[in-house]
Amino acid sequence: AVAPPGAFVIFGGGGDLTKRLLMPAIYNLACAGLLNDDFSIIVVDWAEMTDESLVAQFRESIDDFVNKRGTSAAVLQNDVWDHLTANISYLRGSFEEESTFAALNERLLGRNAVFYMAVAARFFGPIVDFLGESGLASEDNGVYRRVIIEKPFGADLVSAKALNARMLKSLDETQIYRIDHYLGKETVQNIMALRFSNGFFEPLWNRQNIDHIQITAAETVGVEKRGRFYEGTGAIRDMVPNHLMQLLSMTAMEAPTSFDADAVRDEKAKVLSAIQPVKLEDVVRGQYVSGSFGIGDEAEALRGYREEPDIAMGSQTETYAAMKLSIDNWRWAGVPFYLRTGKRLRKRKTEIAIHFKQAPYALFRDTPVDKLTPNIMVLHIQPTEGVTMQFSAKVPGPAVRLGGVRMKFDYSDWFSDGPSTGYETLIYDCLIGDQTLFQRADTIEGGWRIVQPALERAAAEHSPLCFYPAGLDGPREADELLARSGRRWLDLS
Ligand code: BG6
Repeated sequence: AVAPPGAFVIFGGGGDLTKRLLMPAIYNLACAGLLNDDFSIIVVDWAEMTDESLVAQFRESIDDFVNKRGTSAAVLQNDVWDHLTANISYLRGSFEEESTFAALNERLLGRNAVFYMAVAARFFGPIVDFLGESGLASEDNGVYRRVIIEKPFGADLVSAKALNARMLKSLDETQIYRIDHYLGKETVQNIMALRFSNGFFEPLWNRQNIDHIQITAAETVGVEKRGRFYEGTGAIRDMVPNHLMQLLSMTAMEAPTSFDADAVRDEKAKVLSAIQPVKLEDVVRGQYVSGSFGIGDEAEALRGYREEPDIAMGSQTETYAAMKLSIDNWRWAGVPFYLRTGKRLRKRKTEIAIHFKQAPYALFRDTPVDKLTPNIMVLHIQPTEGVTMQFSAKVPGPAVRLGGVRMKFDYSDWFSDGPSTGYETLIYDCLIGDQTLFQRADTIEGGWRIVQPALERAAAEHSPLCFYPAGLDGPREADELLARSGRRWLDLS
Protein backbone atom coordinates (compact mmCIF):
# COMPACT_ATOMS: atom_id res chain seq x y z
CA ALA A 1 0.00 0.00 0.00
CA VAL A 2 1.09 3.54 -0.70
CA ALA A 3 2.49 5.30 2.38
CA PRO A 4 0.59 8.29 3.79
CA PRO A 5 1.56 11.79 2.63
CA GLY A 6 4.31 13.59 4.48
CA ALA A 7 7.82 14.96 4.62
CA PHE A 8 11.02 13.06 5.12
CA VAL A 9 13.49 15.26 6.94
CA ILE A 10 17.11 14.18 6.95
CA PHE A 11 19.41 15.77 9.51
CA GLY A 12 22.93 15.40 8.21
CA GLY A 13 21.82 14.96 4.64
CA GLY A 14 25.24 15.97 3.31
CA GLY A 15 26.84 12.85 4.78
CA ASP A 16 27.83 9.48 3.51
CA LEU A 17 24.85 7.48 4.77
CA THR A 18 22.46 9.77 2.94
CA LYS A 19 24.37 9.54 -0.28
CA ARG A 20 25.15 5.85 -0.29
CA LEU A 21 21.98 4.42 1.17
CA LEU A 22 19.11 6.73 2.04
CA MET A 23 18.75 8.50 -1.28
CA PRO A 24 18.91 5.32 -3.37
CA ALA A 25 16.48 3.64 -0.96
CA ILE A 26 13.96 6.48 -1.28
CA TYR A 27 14.31 6.39 -5.02
CA ASN A 28 13.75 2.62 -5.07
CA LEU A 29 10.63 3.05 -2.94
CA ALA A 30 9.36 5.66 -5.37
CA CYS A 31 10.00 3.30 -8.30
CA ALA A 32 8.08 0.57 -6.50
CA GLY A 33 5.14 2.98 -6.27
CA LEU A 34 5.15 2.92 -2.47
CA LEU A 35 5.57 6.64 -1.84
CA ASN A 36 2.70 9.04 -1.77
CA ASP A 37 2.43 11.63 -4.54
CA ASP A 38 2.58 14.12 -1.72
CA PHE A 39 6.04 13.14 -0.45
CA SER A 40 8.79 15.65 0.06
CA ILE A 41 12.37 15.48 1.24
CA ILE A 42 13.93 18.19 3.34
CA VAL A 43 17.64 17.94 3.97
CA VAL A 44 19.04 19.82 6.93
CA ASP A 45 22.79 20.37 7.17
CA TRP A 46 25.23 23.17 7.68
CA ALA A 47 27.21 22.85 4.48
CA GLU A 48 26.91 25.56 1.83
CA MET A 49 24.40 23.95 -0.53
CA THR A 50 21.37 24.81 -2.64
CA ASP A 51 18.34 22.85 -3.72
CA GLU A 52 20.05 22.40 -7.11
CA SER A 53 23.35 21.13 -5.75
CA LEU A 54 21.45 18.78 -3.49
CA VAL A 55 19.54 17.34 -6.42
CA ALA A 56 22.82 16.98 -8.32
CA GLN A 57 24.27 15.05 -5.40
CA PHE A 58 21.18 12.91 -5.20
CA ARG A 59 21.54 12.16 -8.89
CA GLU A 60 25.14 11.09 -8.40
CA SER A 61 24.22 8.66 -5.67
CA ILE A 62 21.45 7.14 -7.77
CA ASP A 63 23.77 6.79 -10.75
CA ASP A 64 26.39 5.13 -8.56
CA PHE A 65 23.82 2.74 -7.26
CA VAL A 66 22.48 1.96 -10.70
CA ASN A 67 26.00 1.40 -12.03
CA LYS A 68 26.95 -0.87 -9.18
CA ARG A 69 23.89 -2.99 -9.60
CA GLY A 70 24.22 -3.03 -13.34
CA THR A 71 20.70 -4.39 -13.65
CA SER A 72 18.11 -3.19 -16.06
CA ALA A 73 15.64 -2.94 -13.19
CA ALA A 74 17.69 -0.13 -11.80
CA VAL A 75 17.87 2.08 -14.89
CA LEU A 76 16.79 5.57 -14.01
CA GLN A 77 13.07 6.08 -14.37
CA ASN A 78 12.67 9.65 -15.50
CA ASP A 79 9.10 10.24 -14.41
CA VAL A 80 9.84 9.00 -10.90
CA TRP A 81 13.03 10.99 -10.74
CA ASP A 82 11.37 14.23 -11.92
CA HIS A 83 8.59 13.91 -9.41
CA LEU A 84 10.92 13.19 -6.51
CA THR A 85 13.36 15.95 -7.29
CA ALA A 86 10.61 18.52 -7.72
CA ASN A 87 9.94 17.96 -4.03
CA ILE A 88 13.40 18.16 -2.52
CA SER A 89 14.62 21.14 -0.60
CA TYR A 90 17.65 22.10 1.40
CA LEU A 91 17.63 23.83 4.75
CA ARG A 92 20.91 25.19 5.92
CA GLY A 93 21.37 25.42 9.65
CA SER A 94 23.03 24.17 12.78
CA PHE A 95 21.60 21.14 14.58
CA GLU A 96 22.06 23.03 17.81
CA GLU A 97 20.24 26.27 17.11
CA GLU A 98 16.63 26.99 17.69
CA SER A 99 16.35 28.97 14.46
CA THR A 100 16.94 25.83 12.38
CA PHE A 101 13.95 24.17 13.98
CA ALA A 102 11.78 27.24 13.64
CA ALA A 103 12.57 27.35 9.92
CA LEU A 104 11.81 23.66 9.64
CA ASN A 105 8.48 24.14 11.36
CA GLU A 106 7.52 26.70 8.73
CA ARG A 107 8.43 24.35 5.92
CA LEU A 108 6.49 21.46 7.35
CA LEU A 109 3.19 23.35 7.52
CA GLY A 110 1.76 20.95 10.07
CA ARG A 111 2.23 17.88 7.88
CA ASN A 112 3.24 14.34 8.79
CA ALA A 113 6.98 14.03 9.16
CA VAL A 114 9.74 11.54 9.72
CA PHE A 115 12.96 12.99 11.13
CA TYR A 116 15.96 10.89 10.21
CA MET A 117 19.09 11.47 12.25
CA ALA A 118 21.94 10.71 9.87
CA VAL A 119 24.32 12.63 12.10
CA ALA A 120 27.18 11.89 14.48
CA ALA A 121 25.94 10.45 17.76
CA ARG A 122 26.76 13.60 19.73
CA PHE A 123 23.93 15.41 17.94
CA PHE A 124 21.20 12.87 18.75
CA GLY A 125 20.42 14.41 22.13
CA PRO A 126 20.41 18.08 21.05
CA ILE A 127 18.28 17.42 17.96
CA VAL A 128 15.69 15.51 19.95
CA ASP A 129 15.59 18.26 22.61
CA PHE A 130 14.98 20.89 19.93
CA LEU A 131 12.32 18.78 18.23
CA GLY A 132 10.56 18.65 21.59
CA GLU A 133 10.97 22.31 22.54
CA SER A 134 10.01 23.65 19.13
CA GLY A 135 6.78 21.63 19.08
CA LEU A 136 7.97 19.70 16.02
CA ALA A 137 7.61 16.42 17.91
CA SER A 138 4.00 17.07 18.77
CA GLU A 139 1.43 14.82 17.11
CA ASP A 140 -1.52 17.14 17.69
CA ASN A 141 -4.21 17.42 15.04
CA GLY A 142 -3.83 13.86 13.84
CA VAL A 143 -0.42 14.20 12.20
CA TYR A 144 2.41 11.82 12.90
CA ARG A 145 5.91 12.83 13.84
CA ARG A 146 8.48 10.05 13.99
CA VAL A 147 12.20 9.97 14.65
CA ILE A 148 14.61 7.47 13.14
CA ILE A 149 17.81 7.16 15.08
CA GLU A 150 20.96 5.46 13.84
CA LYS A 151 23.52 3.59 15.85
CA PRO A 152 25.64 3.88 17.94
CA PHE A 153 22.85 4.05 20.46
CA GLY A 154 25.02 4.94 23.46
CA ALA A 155 28.54 3.72 24.10
CA ASP A 156 27.61 1.57 27.07
CA LEU A 157 24.64 0.70 29.25
CA VAL A 158 24.67 3.96 31.19
CA SER A 159 24.84 6.21 28.13
CA ALA A 160 22.23 4.12 26.28
CA LYS A 161 19.85 4.49 29.21
CA ALA A 162 20.55 8.20 29.44
CA LEU A 163 19.86 8.65 25.71
CA ASN A 164 16.62 6.70 25.99
CA ALA A 165 15.52 8.82 28.93
CA ARG A 166 16.40 12.01 27.06
CA MET A 167 14.44 10.93 23.99
CA LEU A 168 11.43 10.02 26.06
CA LYS A 169 11.27 13.57 27.41
CA SER A 170 10.37 14.85 23.95
CA LEU A 171 8.85 11.78 22.32
CA ASP A 172 6.60 8.88 23.05
CA GLU A 173 8.06 5.39 22.54
CA THR A 174 5.70 4.93 19.58
CA GLN A 175 7.47 7.81 17.82
CA ILE A 176 10.98 6.38 18.19
CA TYR A 177 12.45 4.15 15.45
CA ARG A 178 15.88 2.87 16.49
CA ILE A 179 17.56 1.45 13.42
CA ASP A 180 19.67 -1.64 13.32
CA HIS A 181 20.33 -2.04 9.62
CA TYR A 182 20.71 -5.81 10.04
CA LEU A 183 16.96 -5.95 10.46
CA GLY A 184 16.57 -4.51 6.97
CA LYS A 185 18.35 -7.50 5.47
CA GLU A 186 15.96 -9.89 3.78
CA THR A 187 17.66 -13.00 5.06
CA VAL A 188 17.58 -11.76 8.63
CA GLN A 189 13.85 -11.28 8.35
CA ASN A 190 13.72 -14.71 6.78
CA ILE A 191 14.96 -16.34 9.97
CA MET A 192 11.53 -15.81 11.45
CA ALA A 193 9.77 -16.98 8.31
CA LEU A 194 11.90 -20.10 8.21
CA ARG A 195 11.32 -20.97 11.85
CA PHE A 196 7.70 -20.03 12.24
CA SER A 197 6.08 -20.81 8.92
CA ASN A 198 7.41 -24.34 8.58
CA GLY A 199 6.55 -27.43 10.51
CA PHE A 200 9.83 -29.24 10.48
CA PHE A 201 12.44 -26.91 11.91
CA GLU A 202 10.86 -25.77 15.13
CA PRO A 203 10.46 -29.22 16.75
CA LEU A 204 14.25 -29.68 16.42
CA TRP A 205 15.12 -26.17 17.51
CA ASN A 206 16.13 -26.82 21.11
CA ARG A 207 18.66 -28.30 23.54
CA GLN A 208 17.55 -31.86 22.88
CA ASN A 209 18.73 -31.69 19.28
CA ILE A 210 21.14 -28.79 18.98
CA ASP A 211 24.71 -29.05 20.20
CA HIS A 212 25.70 -25.42 19.75
CA ILE A 213 25.22 -22.40 17.50
CA GLN A 214 27.84 -20.25 15.78
CA ILE A 215 27.10 -16.74 14.62
CA THR A 216 29.68 -15.13 12.36
CA ALA A 217 29.93 -11.65 10.90
CA ALA A 218 33.28 -11.59 9.14
CA GLU A 219 34.42 -8.65 7.05
CA THR A 220 37.30 -8.23 4.64
CA VAL A 221 37.38 -4.45 4.94
CA GLY A 222 39.67 -2.84 7.47
CA VAL A 223 38.89 0.24 9.48
CA GLU A 224 39.11 2.42 6.33
CA LYS A 225 38.57 6.11 6.97
CA ARG A 226 36.70 5.60 10.21
CA GLY A 227 39.72 5.41 12.51
CA ARG A 228 38.66 8.25 14.72
CA PHE A 229 35.27 6.68 15.39
CA TYR A 230 36.53 3.13 15.59
CA GLU A 231 39.36 3.79 18.05
CA GLY A 232 36.89 4.66 20.76
CA THR A 233 34.49 1.91 19.74
CA GLY A 234 36.09 -1.40 18.77
CA ALA A 235 34.56 -4.54 17.35
CA ILE A 236 32.50 -5.45 20.40
CA ARG A 237 30.65 -2.14 20.74
CA ASP A 238 30.40 -1.72 16.98
CA MET A 239 28.84 -5.11 16.22
CA VAL A 240 27.86 -7.22 19.22
CA PRO A 241 25.16 -5.55 21.36
CA ASN A 242 23.35 -4.51 18.18
CA HIS A 243 23.82 -6.56 15.00
CA LEU A 244 24.92 -9.87 16.49
CA MET A 245 22.33 -9.69 19.26
CA GLN A 246 19.68 -9.21 16.61
CA LEU A 247 20.84 -12.33 14.80
CA LEU A 248 20.99 -14.20 18.06
CA SER A 249 17.57 -13.14 19.26
CA MET A 250 15.94 -13.98 15.91
CA THR A 251 17.51 -17.43 16.14
CA ALA A 252 16.81 -18.10 19.81
CA MET A 253 13.53 -16.32 20.59
CA GLU A 254 10.26 -18.12 21.27
CA ALA A 255 7.49 -17.86 18.68
CA PRO A 256 5.65 -14.57 19.12
CA THR A 257 1.88 -14.76 19.44
CA SER A 258 1.51 -12.52 16.38
CA PHE A 259 3.64 -10.55 13.95
CA ASP A 260 2.65 -7.42 15.77
CA ALA A 261 5.58 -5.10 16.63
CA ASP A 262 5.34 -5.50 20.36
CA ALA A 263 4.63 -9.22 20.28
CA VAL A 264 7.86 -9.77 18.32
CA ARG A 265 9.88 -7.34 20.37
CA ASP A 266 8.62 -8.82 23.66
CA GLU A 267 10.04 -12.20 22.66
CA LYS A 268 13.36 -10.70 21.65
CA ALA A 269 13.62 -8.81 24.91
CA LYS A 270 12.75 -11.97 26.81
CA VAL A 271 15.45 -14.09 25.26
CA LEU A 272 18.06 -11.35 25.73
CA SER A 273 17.12 -11.10 29.38
CA ALA A 274 17.88 -14.82 29.77
CA ILE A 275 21.48 -14.33 28.65
CA GLN A 276 24.09 -14.06 31.35
CA PRO A 277 26.57 -11.20 30.94
CA VAL A 278 29.54 -12.66 29.11
CA LYS A 279 32.59 -13.45 31.24
CA LEU A 280 35.87 -11.95 30.16
CA GLU A 281 37.34 -15.48 30.24
CA ASP A 282 34.89 -16.35 27.46
CA VAL A 283 35.87 -13.40 25.27
CA VAL A 284 38.73 -13.18 22.78
CA ARG A 285 39.70 -9.71 21.65
CA GLY A 286 41.89 -9.53 18.58
CA GLN A 287 43.59 -6.88 16.48
CA TYR A 288 44.92 -7.26 12.95
CA VAL A 289 48.56 -6.82 12.13
CA SER A 290 49.94 -6.56 8.61
CA GLY A 291 49.20 -9.45 6.28
CA SER A 292 47.83 -10.02 2.82
CA PHE A 293 44.94 -11.29 0.80
CA GLY A 294 46.23 -14.28 -1.12
CA ILE A 295 49.83 -15.40 -1.46
CA GLY A 296 52.57 -15.23 -4.08
CA ASP A 297 52.58 -12.78 -6.98
CA GLU A 298 48.89 -12.07 -6.75
CA ALA A 299 49.00 -11.16 -3.06
CA GLU A 300 47.62 -7.82 -1.97
CA ALA A 301 49.59 -6.49 0.98
CA LEU A 302 47.53 -5.20 3.89
CA ARG A 303 48.72 -2.94 6.63
CA GLY A 304 48.09 -3.56 10.30
CA TYR A 305 45.43 -1.72 12.30
CA ARG A 306 47.99 0.41 14.12
CA GLU A 307 49.31 1.66 10.77
CA GLU A 308 45.87 2.81 9.60
CA PRO A 309 45.05 6.55 9.57
CA ASP A 310 44.02 8.10 12.89
CA ILE A 311 44.98 5.04 14.95
CA ALA A 312 47.18 5.34 18.02
CA MET A 313 50.56 3.60 17.82
CA GLY A 314 49.89 1.34 20.78
CA SER A 315 46.13 1.14 20.26
CA GLN A 316 44.36 -1.41 22.45
CA THR A 317 41.16 -1.32 20.39
CA GLU A 318 39.93 -4.72 19.27
CA THR A 319 39.10 -5.26 15.60
CA TYR A 320 37.96 -8.82 16.25
CA ALA A 321 35.91 -10.41 18.96
CA ALA A 322 34.80 -13.94 19.66
CA MET A 323 32.75 -14.95 22.66
CA LYS A 324 30.72 -17.70 24.21
CA LEU A 325 27.27 -16.96 25.57
CA SER A 326 24.72 -19.08 27.35
CA ILE A 327 20.99 -18.63 27.46
CA ASP A 328 19.40 -19.65 30.71
CA ASN A 329 16.00 -20.95 29.71
CA TRP A 330 14.34 -24.30 29.09
CA ARG A 331 14.94 -24.27 25.37
CA TRP A 332 18.64 -23.44 25.42
CA ALA A 333 20.16 -24.41 28.76
CA GLY A 334 23.54 -26.03 28.09
CA VAL A 335 23.70 -24.99 24.41
CA PRO A 336 26.58 -22.57 23.89
CA PHE A 337 26.16 -19.72 21.41
CA TYR A 338 29.51 -18.71 19.93
CA LEU A 339 29.74 -15.29 18.30
CA ARG A 340 32.59 -13.92 16.23
CA THR A 341 33.07 -10.79 14.22
CA GLY A 342 36.10 -9.07 12.83
CA LYS A 343 37.61 -6.82 10.24
CA ARG A 344 40.28 -7.80 7.71
CA LEU A 345 39.39 -11.46 7.72
CA ARG A 346 39.75 -13.90 4.86
CA LYS A 347 36.18 -13.67 3.60
CA ARG A 348 33.16 -11.46 3.91
CA LYS A 349 30.59 -13.73 5.40
CA THR A 350 27.64 -13.36 7.75
CA GLU A 351 26.01 -16.59 8.74
CA ILE A 352 24.35 -18.54 11.51
CA ALA A 353 25.38 -22.16 11.80
CA ILE A 354 23.16 -24.48 13.79
CA HIS A 355 25.19 -27.53 14.78
CA PHE A 356 22.92 -30.45 15.56
CA LYS A 357 23.81 -33.32 17.84
CA GLN A 358 25.27 -36.45 16.35
CA ALA A 359 23.36 -39.61 15.68
CA PRO A 360 23.32 -41.49 18.99
CA TYR A 361 25.06 -44.65 17.90
CA ALA A 362 27.13 -46.11 15.10
CA LEU A 363 25.03 -48.39 12.97
CA PHE A 364 27.50 -48.22 10.11
CA ARG A 365 30.53 -50.30 10.97
CA ASP A 366 32.90 -48.60 8.58
CA THR A 367 31.98 -45.12 9.64
CA PRO A 368 32.20 -44.66 13.41
CA VAL A 369 30.04 -41.98 15.02
CA ASP A 370 32.87 -39.48 15.31
CA LYS A 371 33.52 -39.78 11.56
CA LEU A 372 29.95 -39.03 10.58
CA THR A 373 29.46 -35.74 8.82
CA PRO A 374 28.31 -33.20 11.41
CA ASN A 375 24.70 -32.18 10.83
CA ILE A 376 24.85 -28.45 10.32
CA MET A 377 22.24 -26.09 9.02
CA VAL A 378 23.69 -22.78 7.90
CA LEU A 379 21.60 -19.69 7.41
CA HIS A 380 23.59 -17.54 4.99
CA ILE A 381 22.91 -13.86 5.48
CA GLN A 382 25.54 -12.33 3.18
CA PRO A 383 27.05 -12.15 0.66
CA THR A 384 25.17 -15.23 -0.54
CA GLU A 385 21.65 -15.51 0.75
CA GLY A 386 20.19 -18.91 1.43
CA VAL A 387 20.30 -22.01 3.57
CA THR A 388 22.50 -25.11 3.41
CA MET A 389 22.11 -28.38 5.24
CA GLN A 390 24.96 -30.76 5.69
CA PHE A 391 24.45 -34.43 6.46
CA SER A 392 25.65 -37.97 5.74
CA ALA A 393 24.68 -40.09 2.75
CA LYS A 394 25.78 -43.43 1.46
CA VAL A 395 28.68 -43.41 -0.95
CA PRO A 396 27.59 -45.44 -3.99
CA GLY A 397 29.11 -48.91 -4.25
CA PRO A 398 28.86 -52.33 -2.66
CA ALA A 399 30.52 -51.29 0.62
CA VAL A 400 28.39 -49.36 3.10
CA ARG A 401 30.41 -46.21 3.46
CA LEU A 402 29.14 -42.78 4.32
CA GLY A 403 30.13 -39.43 2.91
CA GLY A 404 29.20 -35.84 3.63
CA VAL A 405 26.74 -34.05 1.35
CA ARG A 406 25.15 -30.62 1.21
CA MET A 407 21.71 -29.49 0.18
CA LYS A 408 21.50 -25.87 -0.78
CA PHE A 409 18.71 -23.38 -1.12
CA ASP A 410 19.80 -20.19 -2.84
CA TYR A 411 17.49 -17.23 -2.58
CA SER A 412 18.29 -16.01 -6.05
CA ASP A 413 17.22 -19.34 -7.60
CA TRP A 414 13.70 -18.82 -6.36
CA PHE A 415 12.98 -15.16 -6.07
CA SER A 416 13.99 -12.18 -8.10
CA ASP A 417 14.57 -9.28 -5.79
CA GLY A 418 14.26 -5.68 -6.81
CA PRO A 419 17.18 -3.33 -6.46
CA SER A 420 17.74 -2.83 -2.76
CA THR A 421 20.05 -1.06 -0.35
CA GLY A 422 18.58 -2.78 2.67
CA TYR A 423 17.03 0.50 3.87
CA GLU A 424 13.85 0.38 1.77
CA THR A 425 11.87 -1.80 4.15
CA LEU A 426 13.01 0.16 7.17
CA ILE A 427 12.08 3.54 5.70
CA TYR A 428 8.79 2.27 4.37
CA ASP A 429 7.89 0.65 7.70
CA CYS A 430 8.53 3.91 9.47
CA LEU A 431 6.33 5.79 6.98
CA ILE A 432 3.48 3.39 7.65
CA GLY A 433 4.11 3.27 11.39
CA ASP A 434 5.28 -0.33 11.78
CA GLN A 435 7.92 -0.66 14.50
CA THR A 436 8.46 -4.43 14.23
CA LEU A 437 11.88 -4.13 12.62
CA PHE A 438 13.11 -1.40 14.93
CA GLN A 439 14.76 -1.79 18.27
CA ARG A 440 12.99 -1.05 21.48
CA ALA A 441 14.81 0.51 24.43
CA ASP A 442 14.81 -2.76 26.36
CA THR A 443 16.50 -4.77 23.61
CA ILE A 444 19.20 -2.14 23.17
CA GLU A 445 19.81 -2.02 26.89
CA GLY A 446 19.69 -5.84 27.00
CA GLY A 447 22.51 -6.00 24.45
CA TRP A 448 24.66 -3.61 26.46
CA ARG A 449 23.97 -5.45 29.70
CA ILE A 450 25.43 -8.62 28.18
CA VAL A 451 28.73 -7.15 26.98
CA GLN A 452 29.26 -4.37 29.48
CA PRO A 453 30.95 -6.22 32.40
CA ALA A 454 33.47 -7.85 30.07
CA LEU A 455 34.22 -4.53 28.38
CA GLU A 456 34.77 -2.88 31.75
CA ARG A 457 37.02 -5.64 33.01
CA ALA A 458 38.99 -5.71 29.78
CA ALA A 459 39.68 -2.00 30.16
CA ALA A 460 40.40 -2.10 33.89
CA GLU A 461 42.69 -5.13 33.69
CA HIS A 462 44.36 -4.11 30.41
CA SER A 463 43.47 -7.53 29.10
CA PRO A 464 45.89 -8.43 26.33
CA LEU A 465 44.90 -8.37 22.67
CA CYS A 466 45.36 -11.42 20.47
CA PHE A 467 47.02 -10.34 17.25
CA TYR A 468 46.09 -11.88 13.91
CA PRO A 469 47.48 -11.33 10.43
CA ALA A 470 45.16 -9.38 8.15
CA GLY A 471 43.55 -11.52 5.45
CA LEU A 472 43.32 -14.77 7.45
CA ASP A 473 40.86 -16.33 9.90
CA GLY A 474 41.38 -14.34 13.07
CA PRO A 475 43.35 -15.12 16.22
CA ARG A 476 44.33 -18.65 17.26
CA GLU A 477 42.84 -17.96 20.69
CA ALA A 478 39.39 -17.87 19.10
CA ASP A 479 39.91 -21.46 17.95
CA GLU A 480 40.94 -22.37 21.46
CA LEU A 481 37.73 -20.92 22.83
CA LEU A 482 35.84 -23.69 21.03
CA ALA A 483 38.54 -26.34 21.29
CA ARG A 484 38.11 -26.27 25.08
CA SER A 485 34.92 -28.25 24.55
CA GLY A 486 36.06 -30.19 21.50
CA ARG A 487 34.34 -27.93 18.97
CA ARG A 488 35.60 -25.89 16.05
CA TRP A 489 34.53 -22.95 13.98
CA LEU A 490 33.22 -23.49 10.49
CA ASP A 491 35.82 -22.48 7.93
CA LEU A 492 35.73 -18.91 6.72
CA SER A 493 36.93 -19.85 3.26
C1 BG6 B 1 28.12 -1.12 10.87
C2 BG6 B 1 29.45 -1.03 11.56
O1 BG6 B 1 27.09 -0.90 11.79
O2 BG6 B 1 27.97 -2.39 10.29
C3 BG6 B 1 30.56 -1.29 10.55
O3 BG6 B 1 29.62 0.23 12.16
C4 BG6 B 1 30.35 -2.59 9.84
O4 BG6 B 1 31.84 -1.28 11.19
C5 BG6 B 1 28.93 -2.68 9.29
O5 BG6 B 1 31.27 -2.67 8.78
C6 BG6 B 1 28.65 -4.06 8.76
O6 BG6 B 1 27.46 -4.03 8.03
P1 BG6 B 1 27.20 -5.01 6.81
O7 BG6 B 1 25.82 -4.70 6.37
O8 BG6 B 1 28.25 -4.74 5.80
O9 BG6 B 1 27.34 -6.38 7.41
